[in-house]
Formats: sequence, C-alpha cells, structure tokens
Amino acid sequence: MWLVTVLGVIYLSAAVAAQDSNTVLPTAVFEPPQPNLQLQSPFSEPYSTEKVVLKCTIDGSSDWNIKWNRNHLEISGSDLFLSEEGSKLTITTETSAVYTCRGEHKIKGISTKDSNTLEIKVKDPPIPTVKLLTNWKDVFESERVEMSCEVGVSDWTFSWYKDGVPMNYEMPKLSIPSVTQINKGKYQCKVLLKSRGVSSGLSNSVDINIYAEKAKPNLNKSTTFEKMYPGESIQFNCEVTLATDWNYIWYLNGTEIPGANSPIYKMDSISHSNGGQYFCKAKRGQYFSEESDKLSLQVSDPPKPRLKLLTPWLDVFEKEKVEMSCGVNDPTWTFTWYKDDQKLTKSTSLIWDEKGSKLTIGSIVRNHHGSYACKAHLTLRGVRSELSIKLYVKVYESLPKPQLAKNLAFDPMYVGEHVSFSCKVSVSSGWKYKWYKDSNVIANSGESLTINLGLQDKGEYWCNASRDDILIFQSNKIHQDVTEIPVPLLKPRNKQLDVFPKEMVELSCKILLGSGWTYTWYKDGKMIQANKDVVIGTNGATISFRSDPSHHKTQNYTCKAELKDRSVHSNFSSKVTLMVYDATPNVTLLQSPEYSLMHTGDSVSFRCDVNISSGWKFLWFKDGDKFEKDDHHNISSAQVKDTGIYTCQAERDSFRLQKSQNMQIEVKERPQAEVILLTGWAEVFSTDTLVLMCKVKESEDKWNYTWFREKIAVGEVPTEKYTVTPQNDPDQSHYTCKGIRTERPTYSVESSPFKTKNLLLKRRILLSVSGCLFFGIILAFLGCIYFKIRKPVVAEERPEENELFLTMKKQLEHTENSCPLVEYITDAALNEGPKKENDDIGLIRSDSTELMVTTQEDQAVMVSTGTENGGAMISFQKMS
Ligand SMILES: *[C@@H]1O[C@H](CO)[C@@H](O)[C@H](O)[C@H]1NC(C)=O
Ligand SMILES: *[C@@H]1O[C@H](CO)[C@@H](O)[C@H](O)[C@H]1NC(C)=O
Ligand SMILES: *[C@@H]1O[C@H](CO)[C@@H](O)[C@H](O)[C@H]1NC(C)=O
Ligand SMILES: *[C@@H]1O[C@H](CO)[C@@H](O)[C@H](O)[C@H]1NC(C)=O
Ligand SMILES: *[C@@H]1O[C@H](CO)[C@@H](O)[C@H](O)[C@H]1NC(C)=O
Ligand SMILES: *[C@@H]1O[C@H](CO)[C@@H](O)[C@H](O)[C@H]1NC(C)=O
Ligand SMILES: *[C@@H]1O[C@H](CO)[C@@H](O)[C@H](O)[C@H]1NC(C)=O
Ligand SMILES: *[C@@H]1O[C@H](CO)[C@@H](O)[C@H](O)[C@H]1NC(C)=O
Ligand SMILES: *[C@@H]1O[C@H](CO)[C@@H](O)[C@H](O)[C@H]1NC(C)=O
Repeated sequence: MWLVTVLGVIYLSAAVAAQDSNTVLPTAVFEPPQPNLQLQSPFSEPYSTEKVVLKCTIDGSSDWNIKWNRNHLEISGSDLFLSEEGSKLTITTETSAVYTCRGEHKIKGISTKDSNTLEIKVKDPPIPTVKLLTNWKDVFESERVEMSCEVGVSDWTFSWYKDGVPMNYEMPKLSIPSVTQINKGKYQCKVLLKSRGVSSGLSNSVDINIYAEKAKPNLNKSTTFEKMYPGESIQFNCEVTLATDWNYIWYLNGTEIPGANSPIYKMDSISHSNGGQYFCKAKRGQYFSEESDKLSLQVSDPPKPRLKLLTPWLDVFEKEKVEMSCGVNDPTWTFTWYKDDQKLTKSTSLIWDEKGSKLTIGSIVRNHHGSYACKAHLTLRGVRSELSIKLYVKVYESLPKPQLAKNLAFDPMYVGEHVSFSCKVSVSSGWKYKWYKDSNVIANSGESLTINLGLQDKGEYWCNASRDDILIFQSNKIHQDVTEIPVPLLKPRNKQLDVFPKEMVELSCKILLGSGWTYTWYKDGKMIQANKDVVIGTNGATISFRSDPSHHKTQNYTCKAELKDRSVHSNFSSKVTLMVYDATPNVTLLQSPEYSLMHTGDSVSFRCDVNISSGWKFLWFKDGDKFEKDDHHNISSAQVKDTGIYTCQAERDSFRLQKSQNMQIEVKERPQAEVILLTGWAEVFSTDTLVLMCKVKESEDKWNYTWFREKIAVGEVPTEKYTVTPQNDPDQSHYTCKGIRTERPTYSVESSPFKTKNLLLKRRILLSVSGCLFFGIILAFLGCIYFKIRKPVVAEERPEENELFLTMKKQLEHTENSCPLVEYITDAALNEGPKKENDDIGLIRSDSTELMVTTQEDQAVMVSTGTENGGAMISFQKMS
C-alpha cells in the first residue's frame, strides 16, 4: 500500500512536469502597437511554483522581440523564465508580482509601449498538519497509534511520509493498530493537487517513539522491614518511569485488589489478612504493562520475648540478687518489665539497662517476691509484644541450716573404713559447701565428703553452705571417733589346754568394743569350717569341738573378727596352743591306810588320782551310788554304814574319764570298854576308897588298858584295875578307861565316865529321899524292884540308877511344880565346878548322858583330849 502510495506520488509529479513544457510564441508587430498581455494558464491564482504562461501579443506580428517586465523590472532571461517561446512566457511563480511586456522590433529596432499590467497573485499551497489521534507519541509495542493529516482544502490528495520518505499512502488517517519498532519514526504528510501538479510542503512531523523495552512498573514499599506487625502502616509505590498517564492496578496474592488504582497503595493499620505478595500493573488505554516485581508483606505477631533467669536461683534469700534477661531475636527491640502484671518502675533495687533487656533485683527483700515478666517493644514502629512467660521469685523468710549426715551410724569407726558425710540444704539449690574438721577447712567443696578413716581423722565435723559468697550457714556437728581395729581376745573355756582325745574344747573369741562382730577361726593357720564335729556358735563367737590327736599333738588356734557389712577385718588374735594326748588316762582310787577292815572311829582316806593334767572334778560312788566329793574322800571316823564298795571317776567340764577300780572296805563296831566299880554298895557310908575295873565288852581278844581321870591318862602301867583313894583323888573325879592292844583294832571305845563324887553324893541323897518322901506311896513298888534287881552287886547298882532316873523323869512329866529336891540337885550339879560347862543344860540330860553309852560328841572330846595328852591317844591317831 505504501508502495502504491509512493508510486502514485511519483507519477503525479511526472505528469505535472510534462504539462509545463507546452509554450505559445508571440507574433511580430510594426507600429509600435500596444502589446497585449494575457494570461494563458487556466488558473488566475496559481500556487507558487506552479507554471504560468503569459502571452504577449503585438499586432499579431512576429517581428517583435518580447521583453518581459516583472514588477517593472526586466526579467533577465536566465532567472525566471522557464521557457520563452516567442510571445509566451512560461514562468514558475514564486511570489505574487505585476507583469508587463513590450516588444522590440526585430528589424526596425523600435519598441513598443508597455503592455497592460497583469498581476499574478501567487498562492502558497496549503500545509497540512499531522495530528495524533491516539493519546501518546511514546508508545509501547503493540500499542495502537492513529494520526490524521489535516488540511483546510478539499480535492487534494494526501501523501504520508515517514522520516521524510513517502509512504505511498494517500488516506488522510494513518492508523497503526499495533506498533512495532519499525513504526518508530517521524511522521509527516503532504497534500497534492494532482490536476495541477501542486504539492504542498511537508506537514509538521509527529515523532512516534516506540519503547524498546516493555513497560514494567517499579514497585517499592515504604518500609524496609522484613516483618511487619499488626497495626503498623505501610505504603506501596508503583511507578512506571517510561511514558505517562498511567493507571495502576494492585494485586495481592495474584488477585486484583478492587478499587486500588492509584500509584500508591497505603494501609494505615495492617493485619494478618494483609499479608501476602503484592505486585502492581500499570494501564493506559487498552495497554497493560507488565507485572511489577513482587513484594511480600509479611505480617506476623510480635515475637514473644524470652524471659530468662540469669542468676541461678528463683528461690532466694534476703540480700541475694536475682537477674533476668528478656530478649527477642532482633536486637532493635527494647523491653519493659512487669511484676504481678503491674508495670515496674525503676528503683534502687530494681534496675535495668537502657534497652531494658536485663533486670536486676538487687538486695532482695521480702516483698520482692512475685511473678516477673517482660514485654518487648519496637518503640519507633509502635509495636509491642505480648507478655513473656512469668518467673516466680520466691523469697524465703528464714535462713536454712545445712543438715550434716553420715552414711553409717557407727561410732566409733575403725581405721580403714570409709565414711561419707553429706551436707545438704533442703531448700533452694546451687549450694556450695565448705567442710570443717575441728575448725580446720577440708579441701572439698562437694555435697559429700568421703574419708578413708585413719586415726588422725577422729574429730568433729561440720559444714558450711553458701552461695554467691553471700550467705553462709553452719550445719550441725557430728563427732566421729576412729579407733584401731581391735584385736580379738581369744579365750579357752577349758581351764586346761592339754586335753585328751574326744575331750570337748571350747574357745571363745571376743572383741569388747562395739557390736556386730563375727568371728572366723583358724587352726594352724587354716580356716575352720563348721561341720558335724565342729560347732561354731552364733557369729562365730565360740567354737567347740572334740579334740583329735590324729594330726598334731599341738594345735594352734587363732581367730579373727570382722564386721561383715563394714568390711572391717581385725588382725589375728593371740594364739591358743592346744596339746592333745594320745589316750585318755586311767583313774586310780588310792586308799590310805589300805586295810579293808575298819572299826568305827577309824579314819580312812580315799584319793582319786589322775596323774596327768589337772582341773579334774571327781565323782564318787559308794555301792554304785553317787556322792559329791573332791579328790579326797576322807572318813575321819568310820561307822558301820561306811562299809561298801568305793569307786571314783574324774571329769572336767563334760569330759568324763573311765571309772577307777573298786575299793571295798568293811567297818565293824569298835569294842566298848566299861568301868566296873568293885567297891560294894554297902560300903558307901564306911569307906572312901573305890576300886575300878576296866573291861572290853564282848571281846575275845586280849587287851591292855589305860585309865583317864578327867580325860588325863593316869597310871604308868596299863592295868586292868584302878583304885581311887582320897590320896590319889581327893576331888573324886570322872574316870574312864579304854582297851588297847598291838593288833587291830588297836584300841577299844573308851568307857563311859565313872563319877566317883557324884556317886557317893547321889547315894546319900537318894537314900534320904526314898526314906522321907515316897516311902508310904511307892514303898512296895520300889521295894519290889529294888530287891529283884539288887541280887548281883554290879547289876544291883545300875538298875537302881536307871529306876531313879526314870522315876524322876516321870515325875517331871506329870507335875509341873518342881520338887525342892530337884532344884537342889540341879543347883548342886551346877555348882559342882566350872570344868563341866557342857553339862549344865540340866540334871536329866547330864545324868542320862553320863549313864548311857558315850555319844559321838563325847568321843570327839575324848579324842581331842587324848591328842593333847599324847600317850595312848597318839597310837590311835597313828592307827587312823
Ligand atoms: C519508591 O518509589 C517512589 C516513586 O517512584 C519514590 O518517590 C520513592 O522515593 C521510592 N521509595 C523508596 C524507598 O525507594
Ligand atoms: C497470601 O499468600 C500467603 C502465602 O501463600 C498467605 O500466607 C497469605 O495468607 C495470603 N494472603 C491472603 C490475603 O490470602
Ligand atoms: C560458717 O558459718 C557460720 C555461720 O553460719 C559462720 O559463723 C562461720 O564463720 C562460717 N565459717 C566460715 C569459715 O566461713
Ligand atoms: C604352734 O605354735 C608353736 C609356737 O608358737 C610352734 O612351735 C608350733 O610349731 C605350732 N604348731 C603348728 C602345728 O603350727
Ligand atoms: C596387724 O598386725 C600387724 C603387725 O602385727 C600390724 O602392722 C598391722 O597394723 C595390724 N593391722 C591391724 C588392722 O591392726
Ligand atoms: C590303764 O590301765 C590299763 C589296764 O589296767 C593299762 O593297760 C594301761 O596301761 C593303763 N594306762 C595308763 C596310762 O597307765
Ligand atoms: C601315772 O601313773 C601311771 C601308773 O599309775 C604311771 O605309769 C605314769 O608314769 C604316771 N604318769 C605320770 C605323769 O606321773
Ligand atoms: C584327807 O586325808 C589326807 C591324808 O590323810 C589328807 O592329806 C587330806 O588333807 C585330808 N583331806 C581332808 C579334806 O581332810
Ligand atoms: C600288854 O603290854 C605288855 C607290856 O607292854 C605287852 O608285852 C603285851 O604284849 C601287851 N598285850 C597285848 C595284848 O597287847
């Protein structure tokens, strides 16, 4: 099309040029005729540059040279004339002018007058204007551009130029619906009056600028903060720097935000729902720009500040210090502090730094307790966080006391044992401990102190607890005693350490100090185990076994003690050496003297003998019946009942030896001596001489005799008879006698004493009593008895005495009132002499004793008397 247009324009130009060449020549005149100037072109008012043909006519002659004047000035041929053909002048008009012509005669040389004037008014061709119909000269590819070429005349044809080059486009409107880079350029137009070959000049030009790049808005936002917090304000700016007249469209997360079409999108108080990706587009006309880059708006809640305790404890004591920090990840935040939800203000004990990130509660007092929290602020942006977690500060009212405890309750403890003390403060935490022993610091700061005890560790322990070097408390004190492990005391229960086979041995091991010891036993260095032969007592405190000579005759026993639950082991005890005999010993029963026949009053001594070892206890058996004795069984004065078979046995503890051999003895009654008064009853009142005779009763043996007056032997030669005279016995004493011989029995039993003085006195008294008091009442009875018994002299005496005794005894039994005679006799007997104190119990007893066979008591007296005097008694002693 453009091509067609261009070609058209060229063609038109050619056509106009061809027309110009048609010229009309003038004819010659003679007389100076009046030239007639005529316009031969069709247009009275040509456009400049249009060819105009002027015709100057002089008489119709052609002899004339035509001279042309323009504005009264001759036109030299060279300048204006396009062509001159006789009378026709073709000129190209430029400006309006007044033309005349005249002729000069070619031959005659005359000239005519000037012709009429012909004024040719020249019009300029109209100049078109290019008008942009669309809004913008600066456009983007694909935008539509429309221009029109406007001119005030009609019938002209249009011609468009781009960058001075004809576009061969003849329409008055130039429309480019979608521009591309090639459309960039300077647009102009011309108008052509084709019929006359007149073309206008070029119009104004319209520069169409086509941006090489696409329109892309710049998007920025008023804040550079990565994160925004609800309530903050923000403004997005969207701008396309190229071109103008934009409208804007805003998008959030790809969705158009309705009603937002200014280059600024502003939110005064954002919320979470405003978060997302923002971009914008610009629009003008139907043209939409590219999307801008995307900017995201991140709306998040303010960070919850982290409240941290900087000092180690939340539970504290007065005067301590608590420090807390409050923080968020971003250092631009500042903080405020709250206690029990009330905002805190600074004071001397509540201080914080400029940003408020660290709170110091110094020198705690009681009312500092409470819940502490903080808030974070971005002051410049007016943002504040929610409250942090709370930290509860507890303030103790009283200072605690550390408790010192010991893992083992034992006291004392032994060298080598381990003891652990622990020091503990029950409230709060973070305590540091300091240990003391007897006021000396122990290098240990832990909660517990373990000591491998030595003697030097004995003492008093305590600890101090502190924290932050501020608070110091002292614990209770514990005294720890340490002693050497005692050596156990080994003691044999047996008195003898030389023992016999199968003899029970019992040893005990003991530590006096403390309790809970257990003991182990060693024999010749080897530990002893309990078995059927060896019994180990509770905790091993004793061991008992039957000795056994099979290994060693000497056996060394030791023991050790230990506290099992404490691993305390003592050293060995001292040693007990046991000597074990090969065999059990014989028990021998020894008798001294060795006679098997004895008489009453003989002494015999048995001895039970074990001639090995000692510590024996003896058991005695007579006829198989046991009786208790020591090693001797002495019979100092044998009796008939001592007859029997004797054995003994030895034992110590429960170890019993075989019985001894039997020893048999027989004890016979010792013969009795008696004193016979040979002096007759009738001679009582006439003589002072008494003849006594000694006799061993019922004995077939031959005897020699010894006599005793008041227990003292009298008479050098042993004689059968003894005569008492007032000369040799003025006091009339007691007389006894005894049989002696060289063979066994070597002596008889001593006779009962014969009291010479009493006899005489009693006879006198009895005679008077019988005569005066009882004569009438019991004469017959007495007489009967008296005469019956009195036939032999010796026999006569005794019954009389007996009767007297019996009678008096009876009388005493029957009547309580005492006869004056009895009193007399009693007094007399009492007054008889100091020598017989033993007989002073009473007349009756005294009498009966003297008249009866001598009692054992008396015999004892006799023996002792005999011993004192020597003589016959000595021989008796020897015998026994
Ligand atoms: C954002 O863009 C606007 C318009 O182009 C400009 O005036 C402003 O200075 C820009 N702001 C920033 C922070 O770049
Ligand atoms: C936009 O997208 C982001 C991320 O996908 C999302 O978090 C946000 O809630 C969205 N905003 C809206 C208004 O839907
Ligand atoms: C241990 O604590 C007590 C008070 O509880 C104090 O008097 C004593 O001085 C402390 N000992 C040391 C060495 O600090
Ligand atoms: C027992 O001890 C004594 C001395 O103390 C020693 O001579 C003897 O050999 C020991 N006996 C054994 C069986 O070891
Ligand atoms: C055991 O005895 C030895 C030497 O007799 C001694 O050196 C040691 O200290 C003792 N041990 C104990 C625990 O008494
Ligand atoms: C004990 O007596 C028996 C028999 O009489 C005798 O064989 C033995 O040798 C005696 N033992 C001693 C130790 O005397
Ligand atoms: C013990 O007596 C027996 C015999 O009676 C005798 O053989 C032995 O040697 C005596 N032993 C001692 C230690 O006297
Ligand atoms: C027994 O008699 C013996 C020997 O006659 C004597 O040595 C011993 O002491 C007497 N024992 C007692 C208990 O009288
Ligand atoms: C009595 O004594 C005499 C002289 O001492 C003596 O010869 C005689 O053997 C004795 N008679 C008796 C029975 O002992």
